[in-house]
Amino acid sequence: MSPVRAAPRTFLAAACLAGVAWVAGSASAQVVKAEAGDDFRAVYATPQEISQGKRIADSSCARCHGPNGISTARGVPHLAGQRAVYLHRELLAYKKGERGKNMMAESVAFLSDDALLKVAAWYASLDPAPPAPAARTKAAAVAPDPVSAGRAAAAGCGSCHGESGISTIPGMPSLVGLDPAYLVAATNAYRNGERRHDLMKALVAGLSDADIENIALFYASQKAGRAKTPAPGNRNAGKAAAAACAGCHGANGISTGATPSLAGQDAQYFVAAMEAYRDGSRTDPLMQGPARAVDGAVLKDLAAWYASLQPQAPKLATALSVSDWVDRCDRCHGVNGNSTDPRMPALAAQRADYLEAVLNAYRTGARRSQAMSAMSKVLTEADISQLAEHYARQKARAIVYVQLPPQGNPR
Ligand code: HEC
Ligand code: HEC
Ligand code: HEC
Ligand code: HEC
Repeated sequence: MSPVRAAPRTFLAAACLAGVAWVAGSASAQVVKAEAGDDFRAVYATPQEISQGKRIADSSCARCHGPNGISTARGVPHLAGQRAVYLHRELLAYKKGERGKNMMAESVAFLSDDALLKVAAWYASLDPAPPAPAARTKAAAVAPDPVSAGRAAAAGCGSCHGESGISTIPGMPSLVGLDPAYLVAATNAYRNGERRHDLMKALVAGLSDADIENIALFYASQKAGRAKTPAPGNRNAGKAAAAACAGCHGANGISTGATPSLAGQDAQYFVAAMEAYRDGSRTDPLMQGPARAVDGAVLKDLAAWYASLQPQAPKLATALSVSDWVDRCDRCHGVNGNSTDPRMPALAAQRADYLEAVLNAYRTGARRSQAMSAMSKVLTEADISQLAEHYARQKARAIVYVQLPPQGNPR
């Protein structure tokens, strides 16, 4: 089925400099297929509608977004040259409260849908902002990979947990062999007081979210080995008792997902953790039952059994580099963030602080988008700031859209 014949509203989008007419056969020309619910009117606004849009912008928007849609304020996005259909759709979303109760929602609350269409067309018609200067981005360009950043951030942890996370001190948990998602959750549980431990709380209080993610990756990528600490229980008796635990912690103490692996764990810590579940100072509901079912000697035996098992570094999804990510982002957002679809936001030359804030909003779910939320969840904070820097320094290109006749052929 030819997309050209499929719908009467089909566009040829060509990446051109503003004002330059579309050139047939241009390498970046592409056909955009309309879908049910698409509203392309903002692309075809008349010059008169655009100048009405300017009047609205001057009175209601310019004080924040700048007289020409180029913002100078932190957190306020540039609008100049942004794709028309996208702008219109987002304005409607603010009006409906779908992007939260904020300054924007208030600014558009009393504007008619017709006014929003015109103001979107005005901003789309403007020359985009210049790219961010490279100087701002040096730090991002030399940012270390997450594992090295994690090693550096974990410098203060080795004295207790062992240089590479293999415990040598009875009572100190080994951190190797644990899934990064568990390590992040455990660290955050100390931070927010859910897991009560004043010492650990103080030790992790100063870490950023990015530090914690990187530290977790660092330990998860280290060669795993058993804790070098004594395990005085009866290993064979422990093996029998561990049958009750295998469903969650794995037959050999190696679990999958965010359930902690127990293989090779320090025995004294193991017993302390079980006691913490028993006395309620650790509150995980899945562990209350199993912990209350064992005590005294059996606990020590279980600890000895698990301490004797060989731990394994968890399988890590290979972290994508920023340029791998950019390839993926560009598939939707256009080469270097210059979207060729009037519905898809351009990212090129957008303010880095805004891009960063928005990506975090997708990640936390504060801003919802089917296309963006799943992907944003796997981005690390470092990825987000580097992607924001990357797109902020790309040259933005305005786009001219050409409507094809309903039965037309692009060539
Ligand atoms: C009081 C300051 C303020 C005023 C006035 C204002 N805006 Fe905004 N605008 C913002 C901020 C801050 C954001 C980013 C908010 C967010 O992340 O949702 C934003 C975001 C936007 C976006 C989303 C851009 C994107 O790339 O998704 C659009 C579109 C927009 N504004 C258009 C307008 C229009 C049109 C007007 C006038 C009718 C206007 N704004 C008035 C502060 C303002
Ligand atoms: C002074 C010694 C000490 C230092 C330094 C230390 N920790 Fe700990 N850590 C402990 C103790 C003790 C526990 C066990 C606490 C408990 O029973 O909940 C622990 C527990 C943990 C746990 C939970 C392990 C598990 O299996 O649930 C994590 C994660 C952790 N620490 C991370 C860190 C990180 C990251 C750092 C460095 C920023 C660090 N620790 C520095 C003593 C220390
Ligand atoms: C229903 C699933 C389930 C079963 C069965 C289960 N566990 Fe757990 N266990 C978990 C989960 C989930 C956690 C992580 C909880 C948390 O974050 O505090 C955990 C945590 C632990 C910890 C703390 C690990 C650490 O690094 O701090 C120990 C020790 C432990 N389990 C031992 C056992 C033993 C021994 C048994 C069998 C008697 C058992 N578990 C049975 C799910 C289970
Ligand atoms: C499958 C297509 C797709 C991919 C791949 C994709 N995006 Fe998006 N992106 C979208 C859509 C659709 C929107 C508009 C969603 C909305 O309305 O909130 C969007 C919105 C955004 C926005 C908000 C723009 C603004 O002006 O507010 C940013 C920033 C963004 N994407 C960055 C990225 C980055 C970075 C990547 C790569 C890691 C990426 N996107 C990959 C489809 C995609």
